[in-house]
Amino acid sequence: MNKVKLLCLGLITITGSAFAQEKGVPTPQWRPAYHFTPQNNWTNDPNGLIFLNGEFNLYYQHNPFENKWGHMSWGHATSKDLISWKHLPVAIPEVITKDTTTWIYSGSAVLDKNNTSGFGVNGKPPLVAIFTADQPKQKKESQFIAYSNDGGLSYKQYAKNPVIDLNMHDFRDPNVFWHEESKQWVMTVSMVDEHMVRFYGSKNLKDWTKLSDFGPAGFTKNGWECPSILPLVVDGNPANIKWVLFVSLGGEHGPLIQYFVGDFDGTTFKNINDNSKILKTDYGDAFYAAIAWRDAPQNKKILLGWLQNGRQETYPWKGQMSIPHDLSLKTTSEGLVLNQLPSVFVTKALPKYAKGKPVEKKNVTIGSSGLKLPGDGNAYWIDAEFDIKNAKRVGFNVVEKAGTDKKVVVGYDAEKQQLFVDCTGSEKNNKSPENLVQTAPMSITGGIVKIKVLVDRSSLEVFGNDGEKVISTMIYPDKEATGLSAFADGEAAIKNLKLWNLNNDVK
Ligand code: FRU
Repeated sequence: MNKVKLLCLGLITITGSAFAQEKGVPTPQWRPAYHFTPQNNWTNDPNGLIFLNGEFNLYYQHNPFENKWGHMSWGHATSKDLISWKHLPVAIPEVITKDTTTWIYSGSAVLDKNNTSGFGVNGKPPLVAIFTADQPKQKKESQFIAYSNDGGLSYKQYAKNPVIDLNMHDFRDPNVFWHEESKQWVMTVSMVDEHMVRFYGSKNLKDWTKLSDFGPAGFTKNGWECPSILPLVVDGNPANIKWVLFVSLGGEHGPLIQYFVGDFDGTTFKNINDNSKILKTDYGDAFYAAIAWRDAPQNKKILLGWLQNGRQETYPWKGQMSIPHDLSLKTTSEGLVLNQLPSVFVTKALPKYAKGKPVEKKNVTIGSSGLKLPGDGNAYWIDAEFDIKNAKRVGFNVVEKAGTDKKVVVGYDAEKQQLFVDCTGSEKNNKSPENLVQTAPMSITGGIVKIKVLVDRSSLEVFGNDGEKVISTMIYPDKEATGLSAFADGEAAIKNLKLWNLNNDVK
């Protein structure tokens, strides 16, 4: 668990006023227009992502009572297009008895098509949620299941919980899927302090047998959380599949989510790289605890992360999700690596939510004073292609405050061969000094660099070169800081640019 959440937990204990809802100062200027946030109160990890009957279901770590971490329950929302969300009642609430408080920590949900669990009624397959029950009084985490017979709106706890109990303090975040080849349910779950992912198998979601362990490997300085493994297509060839194992790494510093590429045979994961190699999913300081919709249409695997919001208070909500990422694997000069682009479901729906037609530019030289663009309300989406010519750096100044030096700079540094986000000009109060400048190594060919910049009031997500590198971060600009311009240090041109104004509050 990261420090910010621990701090919140500490406050609850000290004040002893778990239910006292404090009224905060409303911060509509930071409420995202096209990213998911709960209507009210706290969220952290996405949970139980499942595509059902034409809808993306999102469950999420939620405190239904307060704008800070605590009372962990599963909030619920659904969407047809991954932009607009319908908010639904809490699906799995915390359970409080005289002796025990059970918090519903992170996990996954599956449609049990063949009713292997026997929880189905009237021939209708049940949904089964598999999650960690955190019991603070017992200092214990074990794996529980709950089932839904109403399409995922509400869940009943299984009477014989826990289904896996190692009597451990930190053992969490089960992610379950049906593995057709070995005809079993497979779970990845985190042995947090051992830096291991444990694999379990089951025929009925109730009885689980240990299959294997993976780790320690890669980055081991922080606890391991939220593991999940996904089969991904390599270089667009559906006959070539490799498995990617994601592990979130609690803590403010170091990589936030690492991944391993390899093979999975239904029992064991074999890393194709040396176990010391660290591959980063995102190079920013926010994208965390991500899991995927593994059953989306068009065989898309869509990763969704929580964008950790660090030190700044927002009200009446706290916490938001990332833009959903479509995943694939690509052979590059750095080896076989993850590629991530904003999901095609999002990009398809985008024009529907944009104000008017996108602003377009083609073959425009960027002068020494830059090129002004409309940054209306800090909710927009830019797809840009630069011809970098002899410039040292190209990119955008976003959230500029007129008459001041306040801004965030996003771009490509040709000398350092890096995609970068520089928040030094406006986020000193919100970020630790190490996180003010965030960079990702990225090479370009023929002087062409492609950048997507998604600004959504308090989030900034940057995708370089068709999804080779991603930097996600949170920013908290002043209300009036809505300036936007393209810049070049030297001679450069915009080959192509499209800018969608998304300053509409999507419901
Ligand atoms: C990750 C995490 C998970 C845990 C949940 C609790 O952010 O710490 O490991 O299940 O959050 O809210």
